[in-house]
Amino acid sequence: MRTRLFAAVAVLTLTTAGMALAAAALPKSKALAIMHERHEGMETIGKNFKALHRELDASSPNLNTIRSSARTIQTLSAKASHWFPQGTGPELGKTGAKPEIWQNPQDFVVKMRDFQAEARAFNAAARSSDLALIRAQSGDLGQACKACHDKYRTEMHH
Ligand code: HEC
Repeated sequence: MRTRLFAAVAVLTLTTAGMALAAAALPKSKALAIMHERHEGMETIGKNFKALHRELDASSPNLNTIRSSARTIQTLSAKASHWFPQGTGPELGKTGAKPEIWQNPQDFVVKMRDFQAEARAFNAAARSSDLALIRAQSGDLGQACKACHDKYRTEMHH
């Protein structure tokens, strides 16, 4: 029991003393796979966001399209918490993720949670047939994307 406690303390000390060590512990292939998943996930979020706005701009919006996009965005927003482990920044490969993400982890997590809350709220609104509510919530969702992108994303030109 005592030795286990000591071991746990030693591990804790090591991780806090050297986040760089912890980052190096993520195998490169795993880190690259996460970066790929992140890119694909954000692309899909972007496509769905565009699709629902196309409907909201149309004279008679298709609620099924809006609802399906809202569901996809909410599902992916929940997964997005796992897309930014240490060691998946520009030091590893081409990415639009700025190093600031890992320099301000607490602020980044707040922005991530805001986004997840707005994605849930939008999904709930999309289930209603209240277009004014859906429009208002889509605006709030867009603000949550922008709040994170403005600070933590660089535009990549493919
Ligand atoms: C908490 C931060 C955060 C939130 C919230 C967020 N994004 Fe992103 N997004 C990023 C980062 C960082 C990248 C760059 C990822 C990369 O290149 O690895 C990105 C990239 C993208 C891309 C380009 C694809 C890519 O990987 O380069 C699109 C499109 C996108 N986001 C759309 C959205 C939309 C739409 C929302 C809201 C519905 C949103 N994002 C919410 C951080 C965020």
